[in-house]
Amino acid sequence: MCGIIGAVLIRGQVAPLIRQSLKRLEYRGYDSSGIATVEEGRIYIKKDKGKIDDIHRRLNFDLLPGVIGIGHTRWATHGPPSRSNAHPHIDCNNRIAVVHNGIIENYQELRESLVDRGHSFLSETDTEVIPHLIEEALQTTKGLDQAVGKILPKIEGSYAIAVLDTSGTSLVCARKESPLLLGLSNDGFYCASDVPAFLPMTRQIIVLEDEEIACLTTQGATLYQLSPKGKLFKLPPKSPTTVQWTLDMAEKGGYPHFMLKEIHEQPRVLRDTLRIKKAELQKFAEVMNNHQTICTVAAGTSYHATLASRYMFSQIAGRFLHSVVASESPEIIDTSLGDEAVIIAVSQSGETIDTIHAIKDLKRQGCTILVITNTIDSSITRLADSVLYTQAGPEIGVAATKTFVTQLACLASLSICVGEITGKQTHEEARHLLEELNQFPELLQSIIRNQESIVKETAQHYVAKPSFFFLGRGISRATAMEGALKIKELAYVHAEGYPAGESKHGPIALVEEGFPVVFVAPNDRTRRFILGNVMEMKSRLAQIITLCSGDDERLAELSDSVIQMPSNLSNAFSPIGYVVPLQFLAYYAAIQRGYNPDQPRNLAKAVTVL
Ligand code: AGP
Repeated sequence: MCGIIGAVLIRGQVAPLIRQSLKRLEYRGYDSSGIATVEEGRIYIKKDKGKIDDIHRRLNFDLLPGVIGIGHTRWATHGPPSRSNAHPHIDCNNRIAVVHNGIIENYQELRESLVDRGHSFLSETDTEVIPHLIEEALQTTKGLDQAVGKILPKIEGSYAIAVLDTSGTSLVCARKESPLLLGLSNDGFYCASDVPAFLPMTRQIIVLEDEEIACLTTQGATLYQLSPKGKLFKLPPKSPTTVQWTLDMAEKGGYPHFMLKEIHEQPRVLRDTLRIKKAELQKFAEVMNNHQTICTVAAGTSYHATLASRYMFSQIAGRFLHSVVASESPEIIDTSLGDEAVIIAVSQSGETIDTIHAIKDLKRQGCTILVITNTIDSSITRLADSVLYTQAGPEIGVAATKTFVTQLACLASLSICVGEITGKQTHEEARHLLEELNQFPELLQSIIRNQESIVKETAQHYVAKPSFFFLGRGISRATAMEGALKIKELAYVHAEGYPAGESKHGPIALVEEGFPVVFVAPNDRTRRFILGNVMEMKSRLAQIITLCSGDDERLAELSDSVIQMPSNLSNAFSPIGYVVPLQFLAYYAAIQRGYNPDQPRNLAKAVTVL
């Protein structure tokens, strides 16, 4: 997730305005920044690794000349944070500059063919193919807008781009599956990833739709529809809407808290994460397959993702995984594992000291270290033999939400890949599983749409209860544990996440009339046993809250409150969907109890003490 901005001013100097806008977009990424402007047939660029203020102190962005400019604040996806990977990127002749938010899936192929045609590249980014493609297109088309239109159908994946060239008369922007808005004012015309970028300049906003292109000049914004063949058809002018948000609201996308915004972002970040290249997964999967022992190490929510992955790997890939809590790893992992073991360390921040210690220790023992993280260049990546990045973008709420579903998506994709290698899945079966997995972004959208208000009411109903059980069987045990962790962290309510089958071996002693028990009960092979556990709790007069398939009438009938999940949701990957109502439950319980869910007491986003 990066932030982009483009501006065409009627008068004045654009660079200071772009710098300040980038500052307001920094929550979208902050590992490098850059600005390009154009004046008198020449493009000027300043960019570097680091935060915008630090770069500005060194390079002084405000000295860039001109009234047309583009800017970018980066959350690295392809290539580590560095000056050369920072945007804007240029063509061979320094005549075109581009900023981009999104992921170009076929950039490798595009890059190779551009290199064959004599183009030279300066970065490791996927974005850099765009200015080179435009450079070629400008040889046969008239005008920057036509050239941009011509190349976009070649790009697979997602993009929001802003492009300028040395003609210095216009700025062209376009989007597909990445956000892009236009801002209109009496002083100039703008495009940006999000509303905060514009707020001091204008509140008049137009939302650009997928496959629409806008050409901004000092005269205004002209909108085009892009045809699949790259032709542009002029659209009638759209009337802008007025945003009423304050800056604080705008940074949170209009939501009252980052956590709620991040829950709502899950369909999109999941889609981005599911775009991870098969070759990257394959590399990981082969390493896993070549080792006798596979252990995962992680902490907190990341540990719950690894716990869910145990079930995926055993059922889909036929491989048994040892899931170890990072802080326990030195005590539990046999020191003789050596090079027979591969360790998968999962950490959103990449800075959790327990996880780092564990893998340092295991590395010393000769184990191979594979890392799944959300943070490029984090400490953990430097200890890894190989890294896979989730594509959640920065998570600001202390509670992990969107990073959890992206970790699950990564691990699920890997389990399919390993399953194909081990032969547990035929090519056809693996393809089918992938199809099921790829349905989740849409399923999450519908869960969010249909269940948020129901869960809010449920939270209201149970908010005064001092203690909860969250129970699940099989893979849902991990979901239950994550649900319990969330409500503990945010609403400061005692909650135990437990394997449902184990609850009768002790925890059931706590159950008395009105005790709330949340069952995570998808319609998988554990359901008939869950029914028994529900009956056990019911007969002790517990209040039953069930997350189950929308067509599960029996469970609905037995429950005091039901949260109905899509019945077509794949059981193999059910935590990706079933965790969402539990995130809402914790969020609304916190709100109703008067706590700020973004900053729960005693917790830190990255725990860097042992
Ligand atoms: C989750 O809501 C917590 N903030 C916490 O459990 C977190 O998952 C844990 O500290 C691990 O962090 P990491 O993924 O950055 O390593």
